Amino acid sequence: MFFTKNPIIIGIESSCDETAVAIIKNRSVLSNVIFHQNVHKKYGGVVPEIAARLHEKRLPITIKKALKLAKLNKDKINAVSVTMGPGLINSLLVGVSFAKSLSIGLKIPLLSVNHIQAHILAHFIKNSKNDYPLFPFICLVISGGHTQIILVYNYFHMKIIGSTLDNSVGESIDKIAKMLGFDYPGGPAIESFSKLKNYKRFYFKKPFVNGFNFSFSGFKSGFFRFLEKNKKKDPFFIEKNIHSLCISLQISISEILIEKIKKVISKTGIYRVALSGGVSKNKIIRKMFSSLKNDINYKSKKFKLYLLKKEYTTDNGAMIAITGSIKYKKKLFDSIDEYPYPKFDKF
Ligand code: KG4
Ligand code: ZN
Repeated sequence: MFFTKNPIIIGIESSCDETAVAIIKNRSVLSNVIFHQNVHKKYGGVVPEIAARLHEKRLPITIKKALKLAKLNKDKINAVSVTMGPGLINSLLVGVSFAKSLSIGLKIPLLSVNHIQAHILAHFIKNSKNDYPLFPFICLVISGGHTQIILVYNYFHMKIIGSTLDNSVGESIDKIAKMLGFDYPGGPAIESFSKLKNYKRFYFKKPFVNGFNFSFSGFKSGFFRFLEKNKKKDPFFIEKNIHSLCISLQISISEILIEKIKKVISKTGIYRVALSGGVSKNKIIRKMFSSLKNDINYKSKKFKLYLLKKEYTTDNGAMIAITGSIKYKKKLFDSIDEYPYPKFDKF
């Protein structure tokens, strides 16, 4: 097999409702194309059958576009990396089948990628400051599908030390957003309703969860009860307070996340923290985590926060391609018999 030290990798992501393809050379992104399946909006959540069909329809166009933007012919690609799991099984099957066809057709290796690991390794995509997390670091993965605290010892050695016991943080934001009258996905909508300076801070019940775990279903229920109580007093409570509700929601979620990360820092003595996943796009969450730098307890300990460029927070092909690129360099190729997996709870 032909092997190069500077591989060009195509990354395919189809685990949920984004059809995404990117091309990477070493750490540099040559193209990053994302097709958002907006059709799910009207159903209030992702419909797996529709998602899979749309991946099948959109992948050929997305791959062609990624090659065109990278100004490359397909025969220049050295390997194909693809999300093998976790995710919606029918959607994964579509991406994996395309990747296997490319691998066979172009006679290039297949690189199987774990979606969560890819959210984390997105931090190794080339950035303008050439600043990448040093190992070990703590990664908080907050997305629509996952809420996990992971200790990252190196590219391939990771340990999940905290998880949500029920809903993911993104799922709970999306459901709360629905209560407030927003379409799916609610995260971006909630963020856009938070530009008020003189907002009223509301406090919602925060569930008590032991250790490094979370319960965002508990938080969501607390929020629901808060709304119901206030709507009884004033039927227009939501309309009158929408900005304050959105801001308070984001602050409360940030507080829950920060409290756990502080616990992890004090337990492990690791002061490098990286945020990954769609929810880490949120400005208030980013700002509140950043302000830890000024906290007297963290300032002296060289606390360092790693935030991704926003386009690499939500599901994208670049995170799959960078993970593939790192695996390629270690010659960690996979068999064509590899089969997608919907769930996963341990690296
Ligand atoms: O990482 P992602 O694209 O998909 C999964 O792997 O699940 O994350 C999607 C989640 C959704 O719940 C969406 O509402 C949330 O990320 N999200 C946000 C923002 N943008 C996306 N949440 C808060 N603020 C945002 N700006
Ligand atoms: Zn994801």
